Amino acid sequence: MNHPALDIRDVSVSYGSVRALNHASLQLYPGVVCGLVGMNGSGKSSLFKATMGVVPCETGEVRIAGMTPEKARSAGLVSYVPQSEEIDWGFPISVREVVAMGLYGKLGITRKLNRRHERHVEHALEQVALTDYTHRQIGELSGGQRKRAFVARAIAQQARVLLLDEPFAGVDYASEQMLGQVLRELASHGATVLVSSHDLPSLTQMIDEAALMRRTILMHGTPEHVLTSENIMQAFSGQTKA
Ligand SMILES: Nc1ncnc2c1ncn2[C@@H]1O[C@H](COP(=O)(O)OP(=O)(O)OP(=O)(O)O)[C@@H](O)[C@H]1O
Ligand SMILES: [Mg+2]
Repeated sequence: MNHPALDIRDVSVSYGSVRALNHASLQLYPGVVCGLVGMNGSGKSSLFKATMGVVPCETGEVRIAGMTPEKARSAGLVSYVPQSEEIDWGFPISVREVVAMGLYGKLGITRKLNRRHERHVEHALEQVALTDYTHRQIGELSGGQRKRAFVARAIAQQARVLLLDEPFAGVDYASEQMLGQVLRELASHGATVLVSSHDLPSLTQMIDEAALMRRTILMHGTPEHVLTSENIMQAFSGQTKA
């Protein structure tokens, strides 16, 4: 297939007078896990939000499987795990319900899960090793377990494009490895995964491509090409090549 699954073209985002994202472009094809790397405030979350249509694009546009973000969302083609800070963990909902929410787009207005849907939910919980926590309130889980519950939601949705904003923050090494394997497996079945992280060593083991950010996408390519110490130093110190 020659069409990108995720096509971010010349996207700019501003919050009042702050331009968080300046003409960012990124194309990802099916079957790719891409790491999004950049310092605090470099615009990673803004890129995810613009991709989901949660914040408006001042310039440019996003296409997911050839559709607008709104259409792709309502078709269940894209799933998004926001950065933890953006989630209301006090919401009275069980782990199972969080995961089942991934399927709501596919259900009727009754939101009743059939046996096949139930199996998707159970399988997703197994994949992130949260089966024993199925009936707990999400607010009663540890930070890392909550992250895993949200990844399970994305898995259950069976989306073509997965956007994960800092899924490894606060997650222990074993869980991180487990999530990495899950993402790789999803990609091997044709999904496209964009995952942001500060933790470069763990990320490099699970990605096929890397995108370096600083208010825009500075570079995108193989991890060997993009994540050189020189490039990382430039992106993280601000001395970017013009
Ligand atoms: N709601 C908002 N209102 C105003 N400014 C914002 C808002 N959200 C983000 N910003 C600003 O936009 C810029 C990019 O923020 P963003 O959250 O996208 O960065 P990030 O790369 O995700 O950072 P982090 O690594 O800390 O999560 C920053 O300068 C930030 O202060
Ligand atoms: Mg962020």
